[in-house]
Amino acid sequence: MSTYLITGVSRGLGFEFLRQLSEDPANTVVGLVRDKATTEKKASVELHDRDNIHLLQGDITDYAFLKKAVDATAAITGGALDYVIANAAFISTWSAFDPIGVLGNQPEKLEQDLLGSLNANVIGNIHLFNLTIPLVLRGHAKKIIAISSGMADIDVITKFDITESAPYSISKAALNAAVAKFSAQYAKDGVLFLSISPGLVDTGNFKDATIEQQQALFALMGKFKKFAPHFTGPTTPDLAIRDVLSVIKKASVDADKGAFISQHGDKNWL
Ligand SMILES: NC(=O)c1ccc[n+]([C@@H]2O[C@H](COP(=O)([O-])OP(=O)(O)OC[C@H]3O[C@@H](n4cnc5c(N)ncnc54)[C@H](OP(=O)(O)O)[C@@H]3O)[C@@H](O)[C@H]2O)c1
Repeated sequence: MSTYLITGVSRGLGFEFLRQLSEDPANTVVGLVRDKATTEKKASVELHDRDNIHLLQGDITDYAFLKKAVDATAAITGGALDYVIANAAFISTWSAFDPIGVLGNQPEKLEQDLLGSLNANVIGNIHLFNLTIPLVLRGHAKKIIAISSGMADIDVITKFDITESAPYSISKAALNAAVAKFSAQYAKDGVLFLSISPGLVDTGNFKDATIEQQQALFALMGKFKKFAPHFTGPTTPDLAIRDVLSVIKKASVDADKGAFISQHGDKNWL
């Protein structure tokens, strides 16, 4: 039996974490969402009101809200947590395809986009780690996982000219650094901090893409194929989360502390 806190479970990969982890009735799975009523309805229809799922309202950019949610989690799990999965993220479509130099022609919008990315993906998660660490120290598994992105691999960005999603990539690189810092502090207490990229997964983020965005997405896929010739397109949430959970299960403080790895457990992002 394990206890989990997952952020951003309303849809996409977060909902898939919720679905797969709650399949085992011995698990207690707490999910943080911004719109509790809507997610409750979705979970009721798709997951048939599993009674090991607990949904809490919270926005990771609001510290007071987050603290309340972590306190409520402690009340549900008896004051301890085995796993934290920091999945929620601000994923900007505005800055998804233009290079940062082009975005620089709209400095105010660029600043807004960068701040939005950093607030949710870095600062929100740092607060989440600090608020949950006392619970995790009392848990058995002691694993805090940040869902990152291969888009933050600096060697890949420079080698394959990945100009896309600069603010998002910058925020995920900063998140990886935060995970390494937390690891440096808490590995001695047996806590594994780890950044994992789930690969490229179709979660519907570009279902309303314009023709230009579709063309840009196609061009990005071409760049991906250069560094991963086996790549044929995005995978499904089901497969991606199965892989990520298997990496989480196998990972240990000794072998993986503070690392940034993929759903395959290495640096193969696709
Ligand atoms: N899909 C991919 O190909 C891919 C690739 C690499 C990495 N990732 C990472 O995987 C994770 C999940 O991605 P996804 O594709 O499932 O994204 P998604 O479908 O856009 O879902 C994002 C989730 O984050 C929540 N969220 C956003 N801002 C929040 C905030 N301030 N407070 C609380 N929750 C917030 C959203 O809630 P609302 O419903 O309330 O907006 C939603 O539940 C992200 O960390 C992403 O960076 C995804």
